[in-house]
Amino acid sequence: MSKTALITGASSGIGKELAIIHAQQGGNLVLVARRADKLNELKQTLESQHKVSVYVIAKDLTNANAPQEVYDEVQTQGITVDYLINNAGFGGRGKFHERSIEDDLAMINLNIVALTLLTKLFLPDFVKRNSGKILNTSSTASFMPGPLQAVYFATKTYVTFLSNAIAEELYDTNVTVTNLMPGATESEFAKTSGMEKQVYLNKQQRHIQ
Ligand SMILES: NC(=O)c1ccc[n+]([C@@H]2O[C@H](COP(=O)([O-])OP(=O)(O)OC[C@H]3O[C@@H](n4cnc5c(N)ncnc54)[C@H](OP(=O)(O)O)[C@@H]3O)[C@@H](O)[C@H]2O)c1
Repeated sequence: MSKTALITGASSGIGKELAIIHAQQGGNLVLVARRADKLNELKQTLESQHKVSVYVIAKDLTNANAPQEVYDEVQTQGITVDYLINNAGFGGRGKFHERSIEDDLAMINLNIVALTLLTKLFLPDFVKRNSGKILNTSSTASFMPGPLQAVYFATKTYVTFLSNAIAEELYDTNVTVTNLMPGATESEFAKTSGMEKQVYLNKQQRHIQ
């Protein structure tokens, strides 16, 4: 029977690619992000190309109630989620003391709070069924402090350590929690995170070397 994956941040970049890979393998999907148009476009493509079922939830996950609303909507639709992929996230550049607290809190709310709440909501069902997988998109940034991206790197350290600890707690079940650890990846991330100039400079430097 085909498995259903709920993917946050599925409207672009890594989350969109994960959705395509899952659909190519015949899996059904619940796609979550803010841009309904992008999600619906992807739904149409995947449903017509791969004969899978795709359900769209357009939601801003930085809102405190959003994870619960996502969980409730999935229950109301009678969808059983087999794989939870907490992928939505963004970064931000600048000295910690110069960056706005609003920007940093929004980052923490998405990268940490929403990921934690969704895991808290779905994991008990997985444990009860003794099946299910959680994939959390962390980053190689989680291995070190990140001057000029201090909060972003710290959010990813949280993700890596949280996932590893929960995975250990589940050692005697069939439920797994895994970190996805990308390095620099071409996506909308650099633009969203105000780091296009940084990427451009790096490319120039690479060209000169
Ligand atoms: N690209 C890299 O170099 C890199 C490296 C390591 C780790 N990562 C991690 O990989 C993950 C995916 O990033 P990406 O590179 O694929 O970047 P991306 O193309 O910018 O994708 C980010 C996704 O998150 C969604 N999102 C952003 N804010 C949201 C919000 N408030 N509520 C709900 N969804 C939201 C975006 O959709 P909407 O705008 O439609 O909401 C989009 O689908 C992130 O966790 C990022 O930290 C990226």
